[in-house]
Amino acid sequence: MDKVLVIHGPNLDLLGKRQPEIYGKVTLEEINKKLKALAKGKNVVLEFMHSNHEGEIVEAIGKAKDKFQAIVINPAAYTHTSVAIRDAIDAVDLPAVEVHLSNIYAREEFRHTSLIAPVAKGQICGFGVNSYLLGLEAAIGLIEGK
Ligand code: DQA
Repeated sequence: MDKVLVIHGPNLDLLGKRQPEIYGKVTLEEINKKLKALAKGKNVVLEFMHSNHEGEIVEAIGKAKDKFQAIVINPAAYTHTSVAIRDAIDAVDLPAVEVHLSNIYAREEFRHTSLIAPVAKGQICGFGVNSYLLGLEAAIGLIEGK
């Protein structure tokens, strides 16, 4: 069965309590539950990882090659700063879909630049938890070559 690695970057473990006016009230656990339900219906297996540490995310991407067929990643604040995560995605040769709960282009200027977007297959932002669900649909479409 196809496997997708879902990566949640820094501070996303605080969802539910963190700036609900921007990120909504949904928790990371609830997001993972909704993703699992979607994956089940599509015969895809998901593995989740959350880390507040850049190096751990880099390592998870590096090890994903033989185990997963695609990556869905919300790099959170590292979106705007991390050459290391960008290079890891570029190096691993797996299709990656970048997702964000908020519309990063409607927020502070420093969020308008994603270092990840050029090495991702595409980016989905601004739809809250649906960004993740759409991102997973996109990743599955890439695996199936649609
Ligand atoms: C985010 C947007 C980032 O700018 C921010 O640093 C986050 C969350 C989002 O999902 O909207 O932590 O990736």
